Amino acid sequence: MEIEIKPAKKQQGVFRVQGIPGVLLATVNATPSLSVYGERLIPYKGKEYREFSHKRSKIASSILVGLKIPYLKPNAKVLYLGASTGTTVSHVSDLLTKGVVYAVEFAPRPMRDLLELASLRKNIVPIHDDARYPENYSDIVDGVDFVFCDVAQPNQSELFIKNIQTFLKKGGGAMIAIKSRSISQSKTPEQVFDEQQKYLNKNGLEIERSVSISKYHKEHQVFLGKWFGKK
Ligand SMILES: C[S@@+](CC[C@H](N)C(=O)[O-])C[C@H]1O[C@@H](n2cnc3c(N)ncnc32)[C@H](O)[C@@H]1O
Repeated sequence: MEIEIKPAKKQQGVFRVQGIPGVLLATVNATPSLSVYGERLIPYKGKEYREFSHKRSKIASSILVGLKIPYLKPNAKVLYLGASTGTTVSHVSDLLTKGVVYAVEFAPRPMRDLLELASLRKNIVPIHDDARYPENYSDIVDGVDFVFCDVAQPNQSELFIKNIQTFLKKGGGAMIAIKSRSISQSKTPEQVFDEQQKYLNKNGLEIERSVSISKYHKEHQVFLGKWFGKK
């Protein structure tokens, strides 16, 4: 089968790939010839694309199941909580051709890789800190258009709201990937997701869409909302 790459219908800067087994999405590589996490590099019609792995990235799998994230625009300022080694951050960096991503990670080991990635990509600002304490990095981060949270911790909705309250512009968007097991082993995933959604709504994040990405990331639900300010 011949390779074909077309813009994804719903997400600016993301492309659908046909003709390479297992590869479904891609972004245009901002650092040609460099692969970040072993993803495929695909030259096509004068550009180099990078596989955007739906198995590795919760943003990619959300897009694949039909979520549109309108806040991820080329000139957006994004706050990314739980950056790890930068697998997904690198694709956010590809999308933000005129924007910036503040990438927060507290574990020293993944931080080393993230620092190396940021040295090659000028729109990544790495922040080695604990996302529970946004005040620690309030002198680095400016008002942002979009907050994404993927820390896989029991208290993640609280720290997510705290960061939103500190940095997100009114009318901005925020998205969180919730793994039910990291919140409760005794409740059903449905109960956990329902409670988390109520907590987010109560705190001023109006949930616009919620999608299950359990097909690719076990017992994960993603919530995307709009921020109207502190309640
Ligand atoms: C599921 S991994 C993130 C994967 C990453 N989002 C990706 O797609 O490439 C969760 C990360 O959050 C980090 N983390 C957990 N709690 C944190 C906190 N309070 N502050 C900053 N980072 C945290 C962990 O060290 C880990 O690297």
